[in-house]
Amino acid sequence: MSEPEFEHITVRRLHPLFAAEISGVDLTAPLAEPAFAEIAAAFNAHAALVFPGQRLDDAGQLAFARRFGDLEVLQKGAIGERTLLAGISNVDPATDDIIPADDPRLLRQYSNELWHTDSSFKRISARASLLHAREVPATGGDTSFACMRAAWDALPADRRALCETLVAEHDFAYSRALTVKDDFLTPAQKAEVPPVPQALVVANPRNGRKALYLASHASHILGWPRARGRALLDELTAHATRPDFVYTHHWRQWDLVMWDNRATMHRGSAYDYRRDRRVMVRATVAGDAATVSADDAARAAAAS
Ligand code: OGA
Ligand code: MN
Repeated sequence: MSEPEFEHITVRRLHPLFAAEISGVDLTAPLAEPAFAEIAAAFNAHAALVFPGQRLDDAGQLAFARRFGDLEVLQKGAIGERTLLAGISNVDPATDDIIPADDPRLLRQYSNELWHTDSSFKRISARASLLHAREVPATGGDTSFACMRAAWDALPADRRALCETLVAEHDFAYSRALTVKDDFLTPAQKAEVPPVPQALVVANPRNGRKALYLASHASHILGWPRARGRALLDELTAHATRPDFVYTHHWRQWDLVMWDNRATMHRGSAYDYRRDRRVMVRATVAGDAATVSADDAARAAAAS
């Protein structure tokens, strides 16, 4: 069903709760402001957008992503480190060969199969991610998205009251250790991503919609015994990712998918890493503010 309030784009819902496909727009050409404004509105409304058939190159993907704000620079150890585009890929950009399955550049990507939001391990976490399919595997490699607004709306009132003031600690080293070895990150890499506080509930300042803010990076609740916080985070994650809150995207080459990291979680799925090429390129739009002030984080840490 197309939504009549849009003049420059065609919007088709992909799921009853969130996610929409956008067509009728060519992102490889300069995008006029009225069309961009409608895309931005659709993004705030639907939280995840799929643009099929966009044959973007790096420059084109960067140009579109920059319309939404400043881009994040990648940390050390990632494919594309120190640049603005992340390779979510099993292909070595230097040699164009498939990367061995035990190469650290591939190992760190296995954690993408855990439910997460991008960069929640940074003090100012990412607002949006834009992932472009350059090469897709024959089977597998789908990406699932969970609607964290629906998850918030469906929480019982007492749970909402409990969560509203809580702060979770998010730690990149914690989430990596869930799928790879504890000592996977070098001390220098660890020092680059110290644990940070994040609100457990966030609101989109553009429309007031609240969402649970969870990720595999969330290790515990500040001010709570670890086991109790872990139990709450596990309970909320199970609730937030129940099947009716999830849209699974099956990629076609040249799809661009853009998601709101503060209104969704996502996770990748396995494919034949040794045989099938999968080359995805991600630009990440930085958030404009932290989800919790330093004062509120300190207050949460001191409470018990
Ligand atoms: C990402 C991510 C999952 C996938 O790009 O941030 O988590 O399926 N991707 O590639
Ligand atoms: Mn991700």
